[in-house]
Amino acid sequence: MATNRTFTMIKPDAVAKNYIGGILKMINDAGFRVVAMKYTKLSAEAAGKFYEVHKERPFYGELVQYMSSGPIVAAILEKENAVADFRTLIGATNPKEAAEGTIRKIYAESIAANAVHGSDSDANAEIEGNFYFSQLERY
Ligand code: RTP
Ligand code: MG
Repeated sequence: MATNRTFTMIKPDAVAKNYIGGILKMINDAGFRVVAMKYTKLSAEAAGKFYEVHKERPFYGELVQYMSSGPIVAAILEKENAVADFRTLIGATNPKEAAEGTIRKIYAESIAANAVHGSDSDANAEIEGNFYFSQLERY
């Protein structure tokens, strides 16, 4: 069932470079509505839990270290076809392969520090949104 909601994080590299405003503008201009948002920092333990699906991947340790290295912006976004359209807006995982005009093409520095997260399915959008937000924090 399409929920029309996705989950995103503006990652530590993009926050540190003051790209929050630019990235949120691109998200709003693309027609996404903010349902929930918070500025927070993941502990290594929380980052490990969030990315548990990647536990067996060679980059897991580096990913957990990076995602807990500084504050992030977490948000639930709403739009028709939200998951797929947001993945299109952010571009490929590796910014070198990201299409022109995508968030990662403009703001990401490397495959590891790639500026934003976007859920890859409706089911994961639900799980990831629930990781950060209670029902009372959604508007
Ligand atoms: P995300 O989950 O953050 O939206 O990214 P994604 O779907 O495009 O990529 P995924 O395969 O889910 O990987 C999750 C994150 O792990 C880091 N990564 N590092 N060093 C590497 O080779 C490598 N590969 C992936 C990236 O931060 C990626 O976004
Ligand atoms: Mg992913």
